[in-house]
Amino acid sequence: MEKKKYYLTTPIYYPSANFHIGHCYTTVIADAINRFKKLEGYDTYFLTGSDEHGLKIEKKANDAGVTPKEYVDKIIENAKDLWKALDVEYDKFIRTTDSEHIDTVQKIFKKLYDQGDIYKGEYKGLYCTPCESFWTETQLVDGKCPDCAREVNEVAEEAYFFKLSKYQKRLEEYIEEHPEFIQPVSRKNEMLNNFIKPGLEDLCVSRTSFTWGIPVTFDEKHIVYVWIDALSNYISALGYLSEDDSNFKKYWPADLHIVGKEIVRFHTIIWPIMLMALDLPLPHQVFGHGWLVINGGKISKSLGNYRDPREYILEYGVDAIRYYLLREVPFGSDGQFSEELLLSRYNADLANTLGNLVNRTLSMLTKYFDGVIEKSDVKTEFDEDLINIVTSTKEKMENYMDKLEIPEAIDSIFEIFRRCNKYIDETTPWILAKNNDTDKLKNVLYNLLESIRIGAILLSPYLPRTSKEIIRQLNTKEINYESTNKFGILETNIHINDFKPIFMRIEIKDETK
Ligand code: MSP
Repeated sequence: MEKKKYYLTTPIYYPSANFHIGHCYTTVIADAINRFKKLEGYDTYFLTGSDEHGLKIEKKANDAGVTPKEYVDKIIENAKDLWKALDVEYDKFIRTTDSEHIDTVQKIFKKLYDQGDIYKGEYKGLYCTPCESFWTETQLVDGKCPDCAREVNEVAEEAYFFKLSKYQKRLEEYIEEHPEFIQPVSRKNEMLNNFIKPGLEDLCVSRTSFTWGIPVTFDEKHIVYVWIDALSNYISALGYLSEDDSNFKKYWPADLHIVGKEIVRFHTIIWPIMLMALDLPLPHQVFGHGWLVINGGKISKSLGNYRDPREYILEYGVDAIRYYLLREVPFGSDGQFSEELLLSRYNADLANTLGNLVNRTLSMLTKYFDGVIEKSDVKTEFDEDLINIVTSTKEKMENYMDKLEIPEAIDSIFEIFRRCNKYIDETTPWILAKNNDTDKLKNVLYNLLESIRIGAILLSPYLPRTSKEIIRQLNTKEINYESTNKFGILETNIHINDFKPIFMRIEIKDETK
């Protein structure tokens, strides 16, 4: 049977040498969803990339005395390196400076122009000459340029416009008829009531005041401005309007665009209208997530609350960071980030609940049975409850993931580990050993090991390294996801001798002393 496809994207990031933990949020979440869908048997395609054009980059390159392309080439590796450090496994990294992307954007622009959806007009705005930037009234600070605090002048420049207004009604109807299109629902209401229903103005989609962008083929003094360039990445990456469009035919429409809340507007207004104008199907869902904040505010280098995420990875391990990003914040809401919170999650869940369980169980197996796993028929009164919880987790986790309730999905797996720890307290294996209740003890340890095996497989989308390491320590070859709702698959007579604690407790420094 042919596998069902699943196409998932993150936003394309502005190239930066200063990525912070907030930037890691979208991408780690997308990676976990992608790994989960793969585990479920989907043929997945996971896209991320970089958004490299624009005046800001042009200026930074000028300041550095290099061309914009040289400038972005140099820092783009930073993103790839960070995603690698976070074990993010994407299928493609698209750059908006890739020739295939440029080609597709130029064809899209021309097509929209030829069919009358893009037209030439005049862009009026408040312009700061030294900064070469246009600002809107609301962006000004005390009526002056927000960057350099100098006077701005109203100027007009020739520009192309995209007829958003023509598609307003159609978009409104589409959103009303497809409640799953914009999630969470609060963002859907915000888009409809605050932006779409009050009326859409046509969008300025070209510029002549700077040059670092994709040239408009039929009017070369213009470059394509921002959103038509950036949003097209989701289809140019698949080969739309190129010689080989097999990926486009296979994967489009996207199943999920994950985006931060501040760019939901572009993804649920401009993007679907572009697709309607191109006569293409719309993505199944745009999910707008919240922000990670520090002390309730923005994370930024200039505020001094910024640390390179790689430092955290070196200090605590990649899965500790992934766990925090995936587990701490309800998906869709804003959430706090701090090292104290990271550490307390780490100690409570990863070290105490999971690490301790695995280590205790393997130590007991070594001590009582020389590390050899065996089964027995002598049950305890606590087995049924443990087995019920363990074998029902796969379905619970899948249900949560279908709703993108990621923290809840992970917590449902930790329920297995919590139940196992309770099972140890209930069955008191050390007393069984003391009383030479060997068969019962075998059964207890088998049940614990089998529960840990199932939990480890279920954890693999979220904490891939930890999952692998537990499976390695168990020395089991039974890693089939489909079998995680069945109990008793773990092999007997395998020998465990190579294990070490995962997630050692970290003492929290008391800064007041
Ligand atoms: N280039 C545009 C996106 C174009 S998509 C066609 C862009 N780039 S960005 O680098 O500024 O942001 C990329 C993503 O990182 C966005 O989804 C943004 O919301 C996310 N985050 C940046 N800071 C964040 C936090 N502090 N917390 C969570 N996500 C954050 O926007």
